[in-house]
Amino acid sequence: MIVRKCEDKDIDKIVDIERKSFSNPYPHKVFLNFLGSDLFLVAEKEEVIGYILGEEMGDEGWIISIAVLPEHRSQGIGTTLMREIIGRMETDEVLLTLRTNNMMAYKFYMKLGFSAEGFIKSYYENGDDAILMKKEL
Ligand SMILES: CC(C)(COP(=O)(O)OP(=O)(O)OC[C@H]1O[C@@H](n2cnc3c(N)ncnc32)[C@H](O)[C@@H]1OP(=O)(O)O)[C@@H](O)C(=O)NCCC(=O)NCCS
Repeated sequence: MIVRKCEDKDIDKIVDIERKSFSNPYPHKVFLNFLGSDLFLVAEKEEVIGYILGEEMGDEGWIISIAVLPEHRSQGIGTTLMREIIGRMETDEVLLTLRTNNMMAYKFYMKLGFSAEGFIKSYYENGDDAILMKKEL
């Protein structure tokens, strides 16, 4: 498996992974806005099987989204994507939010050394609450 920067040709596949992974997937145009970023990466194994998108905002690095195709999960691909993006960040800390009901992702981030920093009521558009997680770099 290789991890590389996302290119134009990958966007349709990323939208497919997104739809298979989230009940409120990001639309196509969100991903187009991040094309060219060093923090927009794909995992490829014959085809694209996962992606991660992050952003640096001042002193903070943010993970905006990560997803791996369901049939390729629990094989370390998400961990590889997280390590690669964090290695590229020049900030002192990295933050992310997740839905309070996403226990799978919560365990995933805990294992990567993140800790829960706070709770944000009605953070998402559909009214779901969020957990804010942080890792010092
Ligand atoms: C979260 C996600 C990206 C993790 O990717 P992955 O490739 O499956 O993760 P890894 O194989 O690297 O797993 C690393 C650790 O995460 C935890 N984990 C992963 N999948 C898990 C599951 N189904 N249940 C519980 N813990 C899980 C485990 O601690 C695992 O370590 P282990 O394999 O030693 O038990 C993937 O499950 C996914 O795409 N989920 C749907 C989208 C999503 O929720 N994204 C996060 C939004 S905030």
